[in-house]
Amino acid sequence: MFARRTAWQSETNRFTQALEARRARGALLDLTESNPTRCEFDYPSGLLDGLNVPAALDYTPQAQGMLSAREAVSAYYAERGDTVPPERLLLTTSTSEAYTWAFRLLCDPGDEVLAPAPSYPLFEYLASIQDVTPVRYPLFYDHGWHVDMHALEQAITERTRAILVVNPNNPTGSYLQSAELEAMNRLCVARSLGLVADEVFLDFPADSKPRPSLASNPAALTFTLSGLSKIAELPQMKVAWIAVSGPDGEVRHALGRLDVIADTYLSMNTPMQLAMPALLGSRSGFQNQLRDRVQANSKALDVALASVRSVERLKAEGGWYAVLRVPQTASDEELAIALLEAQRIVAHPGHFYDFGAEGYLVLSLITPSATFREGASRLAAFLRQRFR
Ligand SMILES: Cc1ncc(COP(=O)(O)O)c(C=O)c1O
Repeated sequence: MFARRTAWQSETNRFTQALEARRARGALLDLTESNPTRCEFDYPSGLLDGLNVPAALDYTPQAQGMLSAREAVSAYYAERGDTVPPERLLLTTSTSEAYTWAFRLLCDPGDEVLAPAPSYPLFEYLASIQDVTPVRYPLFYDHGWHVDMHALEQAITERTRAILVVNPNNPTGSYLQSAELEAMNRLCVARSLGLVADEVFLDFPADSKPRPSLASNPAALTFTLSGLSKIAELPQMKVAWIAVSGPDGEVRHALGRLDVIADTYLSMNTPMQLAMPALLGSRSGFQNQLRDRVQANSKALDVALASVRSVERLKAEGGWYAVLRVPQTASDEELAIALLEAQRIVAHPGHFYDFGAEGYLVLSLITPSATFREGASRLAAFLRQRFR
């Protein structure tokens, strides 16, 4: 009865089973909390006032989204030094929807998109639900993460339609370097590929030095995705966008087609679009709290791990995650389950993010500080014992 694309494996993996069983037996120290609404940040009173306005009772659908909301996004980029006119923006109800529209625009069934590995776990589903095959290109670690450009080029086939980048990447925290962007631009132009850049973590460089966005990348047809979920720590609002840039003619054609996709769904609701300028405008308060949290937790982790010689926290230039490289004496899943059983600590095994090998654990650095401090010191004690 059902489409083959929905024949997903229904059993939960061993780690998730162990997590559920352990949780049923008592509270855990969850070092993977990355939902900002669960991380004890202060949300200002009056934040929701913009939703309760008479104009919210009017319905005047606009395919790309209300101009006032797109102007707010354009102003966000202008503050960063990028020119992204409102006409080149489309609002969506999440970056997931933005990926969907980009894939619908660029790919026929059976086409391929190149996605980084390790990276965002949802790519597999985002692509396959659209009958698109995600093909991995590897990142490698050498005093920092880099794109394996040779492997990326080798992965291009007749069916490839787009290169996906996450800037900075989740969970490695690596920004796209200018030489990598140049090489990708060249490939995209030469092979008629779109560049899809997910920049939800753009505003969180570890050293607080702003990094450039791809939202005005002029060289190749580029779809830059971002939204309120990370930029303003408001994932529940379901507001995101696509910025289209590149050669003028291609941008015009892409926008014309995206406009029909957007007009078919009209998925943005009016109250959120009205509130959007204020919600996006509130971001600096959240971003400051979040940066302080990431810094404090990173420091606590480094202090705790200082005495564990065989474990390394890999260099991250930005984002919210810590990647630990541990000796490959067992699978990451077994290690994460052992941590749960012995210490009641939740850490993600690297395979959730498609690391190319065993030997990685991933933690969220926005976890509430008291939990993180205690968890980090127990994690270090466990690792010291295990990898003596
Ligand atoms: C790289 C990346 N993109 C997008 C998202 C989700 O964005 P949204 O809530 O707008 O769908 C996440 C969530 O963790 C993410 O890690």
